[in-house]
Amino acid sequence: MSLDISRAVEVIRSASFLVALTGAGVSAESGIPTFRGKDGLWNKYRPEELATPQAFNRDPKRVWEWYVWRIKIVLNAKPNPAHYALAELEKIGLLKALITQNVDDLHERAGSKKLIKLHGNILEARCVSCNYVVKWSQPPSEIPPKCPLCSSLLRPNVVWFNEPLPEKALQEALDLASKADTMLVVGTSGIVMPAGALPFIVKDHEGTVIEINVSESAITPIADIFLRGSAGKILPEIVKMIK
Ligand code: OAD
Repeated sequence: MSLDISRAVEVIRSASFLVALTGAGVSAESGIPTFRGKDGLWNKYRPEELATPQAFNRDPKRVWEWYVWRIKIVLNAKPNPAHYALAELEKIGLLKALITQNVDDLHERAGSKKLIKLHGNILEARCVSCNYVVKWSQPPSEIPPKCPLCSSLLRPNVVWFNEPLPEKALQEALDLASKADTMLVVGTSGIVMPAGALPFIVKDHEGTVIEINVSESAITPIADIFLRGSAGKILPEIVKMIK
């Protein structure tokens, strides 16, 4: 492992355009549940009942109850050493951008600036009629919440199954993957598209993929360097060796 970390450090140091892609695993050590795996949300809940536009149309109250539970977890969570290490890599000029599938705000709170949120923001809601966006600093008290402008229903401002990604964020992510000579892929199963395709775009133009994950993922077969272990341990170690 330490040999692999040294190789990763060398690649990161000499990268001309390093981009990171993160998934739920990067926030796991902050106490935010992942989606897949033993304690994953999709093991306990059915996505088609909670995370589709159809589910929301059928029962907005139920969907909101689940989101309020998750909003509370996010508001009580703190960034962990993995979030801080990624912010530090950006600060020292090596990491050019961070693409995340996470809907929490832990990368922002850790100090990441150039951040592309592919799946939206759980701390925001959007009006289903006028698209007005509300930001939560506390979970909504009225369930389901209503738009302060037009009184229509508010929905969580996240991407659900069967929905397209925000166009601007997706375009930025695709452009970054096309430019990246190195991609650091952290804590994602890599099976949700189009996010999971980004490391393949990097490989297509002969870029290098470095993966950090506690177990193998859909990205592992194309990873040039696979660092098995927790993001909260490995990323700070990498940053320490770089500085
Ligand atoms: P998953 O839950 O699918 O995968 C989490 C990954 O993190 C797994 O590969 C774990 O092995 C890894 N992992 C867990 N703890 C870790 C740790 N401490 N350090 C490093 N790796 C760790 O989450 P995502 O890949 O983010 O989409 O899921 C992608 C999308 O599927 C989510 O954004 C969400 C979900 O449905 C939407 O909501 C649209």
